[in-house]
Amino acid sequence: MHSQTDVATNSGKVEAYQQICRQLEELLGDESSFIANAANTSALLFHSLPDVNWVGFYIAQGDELVLGPFQGKPACVRIPFGEGVCGTAAARGETVIVPDVSKFAGHIACDTASQSEIVVPLLNWGRLLGVLDIDSASLNRFDEEDSEGIESIVSVFLASEVTNDLPDLSEEKAQY
Ligand code: SME
Repeated sequence: MHSQTDVATNSGKVEAYQQICRQLEELLGDESSFIANAANTSALLFHSLPDVNWVGFYIAQGDELVLGPFQGKPACVRIPFGEGVCGTAAARGETVIVPDVSKFAGHIACDTASQSEIVVPLLNWGRLLGVLDIDSASLNRFDEEDSEGIESIVSVFLASEVTNDLPDLSEEKAQY
């Protein structure tokens, strides 16, 4: 298992993210429950990444994001698309890194300790399922390598969701 400092220093950061991806693949296994996998993904990241104070999911519902499984202090529940860092990443469909949240117009402060933030959208074949939000109490905590690393983690997470898109055959089964 990598040490937390591996991810904090640029040397070894890529390898550390690769290792977290492998751990996540193992952790999720064949499970396809979105809620269970989101809960375990947020727990793994919260305990593996150094210098983070909040890791969690917001799930797309209508034209807003609704709080999902997370680790950290209690957070705001609903964020309209286009609002805050999460809503901006959701509306753009791309990763947003905010080095200093006090300079991001419209930032939604859930934990006042948070100073920088990264939000990665969950895009499944172009459909927005939600976002993964990670906060840090340090300024400028996330760079391009974190962005690539966390996007790889999101790909592993999304791979486990594919079976959720299959038709629910339970009613059909019940007829037999
Ligand atoms: N800061 C986020 C809100 C979510 S919390 O950080 C957990 C935002 O501006 O969208």
